[in-house]
Amino acid sequence: MAPRKTILRALAGETLPTPPVWMMRQAGRYLPEYRATRAQAGDFLSLCYNPELAAEVTLQPIRRYGFDAAILFADILLLPQALGADLWFVTGEGPRLSTITSQADFDKLGPVDDIHETLNPIYETVRILRRELPAGTTLIGFAGAPWTVATYMIAGRGTPDQGPAHALKNENRAVFEALMDRITEGTIDYLSKQIEAGAEVVKIFDSWAGSLKDDDFRKYALEPARAITAALKAKHPGIPVIGFPREAGDGYIGFAKATGVDCVALDNSVSADWAAQHVQIDGCVQGNLASSHMVTGGQALVDETKAIVKAFSGGPHIFNLGHGITPDADPDNVQRMIDAVRDT
Ligand code: CP3
Repeated sequence: MAPRKTILRALAGETLPTPPVWMMRQAGRYLPEYRATRAQAGDFLSLCYNPELAAEVTLQPIRRYGFDAAILFADILLLPQALGADLWFVTGEGPRLSTITSQADFDKLGPVDDIHETLNPIYETVRILRRELPAGTTLIGFAGAPWTVATYMIAGRGTPDQGPAHALKNENRAVFEALMDRITEGTIDYLSKQIEAGAEVVKIFDSWAGSLKDDDFRKYALEPARAITAALKAKHPGIPVIGFPREAGDGYIGFAKATGVDCVALDNSVSADWAAQHVQIDGCVQGNLASSHMVTGGQALVDETKAIVKAFSGGPHIFNLGHGITPDADPDNVQRMIDAVRDT
């Protein structure tokens, strides 16, 4: 029998001699082949909803670098669109959505049962990928965490401090919580379908978890991650889940225990030695290398990569960045990082 895929072994709690490696946003604008396929698709959303081309850009970094995992090419904002929000991307600026600031806005959203009509092409991308990926490569599906998705749905765009979402939470909690519940239910169904189509792991991106404190962190970061993880594991026993409560700081401590996720993804604001002591004691960790090293490269990239590998060498670890690779990254630096991980 072929040895089990390295990512799945790490997620099951195994300490491997060399950590498996993949990269957030590994399919993206830093790669010339991605830019070419995106031009062929037209715009970003057309690329997401075109299964052949979305599978093609997912495969590009696998062919170029031989990463241990591929992440489905899609976006966390497709679920809001499937729930009935308007969504478009402004070049050079980012996403725009219709806003939700009242009960009337919330009432315009559709039911969770209707999301698959919009999201079916995404499941088709997953099916194509399971056929085409190399045997040792793990396919990761994903969705946004309810809080992070809600911040975009409420403000209608990315915001530096998630102010509009905090305002709705504080001023109209009933609407805020109804929205959180709708997103949570939609996320469970969306990820379930990705798993049924062939995703072997799912990751929940809570990019703005760092702006939730104390009771809000427990109610709106921990609890939805717990509910989603529990529902997925009840339906798909053994499915590994990665949680990414970005910039949660002390909130990383106990995150895996409180939510049931199999792996905690770390941003680059925490020290690897601290995380080895306080987070990795509960299981697998992933991440931590600052994406800026992919732009600047040099000896610092190699040294920092090896330091992270060493810090996490006593337990299960998947090598990754602390956030997505940026469009100005040098593709050669990605190869240097992989060589540094595999050489250690
Ligand atoms: O990681 C991967 O390679 C898989 C694909 C993926 C994308 N977005 C593709 C994408 C994943 C996992 C995401 C997650 C995502 N999307 C998050 C959570 C992770 C994070 O980065 O914090 C968020 C907050 C979004 C929402 C989003 N999508 C924003 C704010 C933007 C604009 C910023 C930007 O980088 O341009 C996007 C666009 C986006 N999503 C691109 C890609 C490759 C760039 C679009 C392009 O090709 O022009």
